[in-house]
Amino acid sequence: MTRTRIKAALNADTPIDPILIKGWVRTKRDAKGFSFIEINDGSCLKNIQVVVDSSLPAYALVKEIGTGAAVELEGALVESPGKGQKWELQATRLKIIGSADMETYPLQKKRHSDEFLRTIAHLRPRTNKYGALFRIRSEAAFAVHQFFRDQGFYYLHSPVITGSDCEGAGELFRVTTLGPDSQQKSDSTPPYEEDFFGKGANLTVSGQLEAELFASALGDVYTFGPTFRAENSNTPRHAAEFWMIEPEMAFADLSDNMDLGENLVKYLTQYIVKNCAADLELFARFVDKSLMSTLDGIVTETYVRLPYEEAISILNRSKKKFEFPVDFGTDLQTEHERFLCETHFQKPVIVYNYPKTIKPFYMRLNGDDKTVAAMDLLVPRIGELIGGSQREERHDVLKQRIVETGMDPEIYWWYLDIRRYGTTPHSGFGLGFERFLMLVTGVSNIRDVIPFPRTPKHLEF
Ligand code: 4AD
Ligand code: MG
Repeated sequence: MTRTRIKAALNADTPIDPILIKGWVRTKRDAKGFSFIEINDGSCLKNIQVVVDSSLPAYALVKEIGTGAAVELEGALVESPGKGQKWELQATRLKIIGSADMETYPLQKKRHSDEFLRTIAHLRPRTNKYGALFRIRSEAAFAVHQFFRDQGFYYLHSPVITGSDCEGAGELFRVTTLGPDSQQKSDSTPPYEEDFFGKGANLTVSGQLEAELFASALGDVYTFGPTFRAENSNTPRHAAEFWMIEPEMAFADLSDNMDLGENLVKYLTQYIVKNCAADLELFARFVDKSLMSTLDGIVTETYVRLPYEEAISILNRSKKKFEFPVDFGTDLQTEHERFLCETHFQKPVIVYNYPKTIKPFYMRLNGDDKTVAAMDLLVPRIGELIGGSQREERHDVLKQRIVETGMDPEIYWWYLDIRRYGTTPHSGFGLGFERFLMLVTGVSNIRDVIPFPRTPKHLEF
């Protein structure tokens, strides 16, 4: 007999006899003449309730079963007389596949703190909350592909190892096979020619540059993969390894880019609301009581489009005391971003036309020579969810910007080439996948929406 997933069993229209279930024990309760065992197999939030009668030969095994044990049960799926569930399993056979020591198994029936669960990240997906979270994560990833596929975008696998720094922020993890004994040429330059690639290599901070090359051939593309940043910021919104979705469109300007960003966020949110209702309800009940109304706003509101300069003046006119004062030329901090979308507009806001001094070299210079065609999409509780821009498509202006920002145009010869052969106005952005998951679940720490978080001084599992 093949095993039936618990999700399918609980959704059955008619009794099923016989049925085979496999899963992990969540709880066990003894009554007079029988025991109740709750089993979860990860296919859905709900457990199946199993009744094991004391007259069964297998009943002797019940007292050996502890929370966390893997078991196999055969029996009949029958209507449950109990409250709270339509079906239950009347067991005829029971087998322990993998026992779990009741004394040491770290997950108890009580609620555990997120901080504690991070220390047992190998077991936390077995809790209701983290099981729900990682099912939602999986569905959201699928929705990303669905969205772009429906719109005629091609999925690009951009490289993880690169020789360039897309953001120019120097937050690179070096990739090297040189041992600790290799001779440093000077204090600052490692002996690259002896290294694996014969030059400096690092983990990518963004697939954008490669996506631009492919957009110049396939038209509309997107990447969706892991990205790495060695930024030493221990915040609830930054991870050293995170996943980013980066669409890039040929023949598209900043306003097309904003449309795409807004549509993507709405689509993904709506998809989760519709397809993950049971899992999402857990977050609406236990994590953020206002979650459903926030998500409703994300889906139905028209997002504000606000020039950076106006954002600065709104912030300065507000009575609010910010930790960091703002003026033209300062980057917005999370406190400013949240003020704009939570307090002032109370809906998502797209801030655009940032000063060139605080943005990377590749953004298109505006006519004022002061600002670039950048855009950040800000959402309640998170702040920046998307960062993007129209790209500088003019060869000479771009080269000038590379030099101005202290980078070497030689390294970017291929990037400049695209501006020599059939250049087009083109645009794209990056959406932080974990930040989206925080938005949609109400979870407030990035460490709790990624299976195994990597943050400064923390590399477990
Ligand atoms: O604004 P960022 O740095 O933009 C880029 O990397 C562009 N190259 C994207 C592009 O235009 N193709 O990053 C984009 C998004 C941010 O808005 C944020 O959501 C997320 O990536 N992000 C992080 N998420 C988690 N941890 C970090 N350390 C992150 N850094 C950026
Ligand atoms: Mg950004």
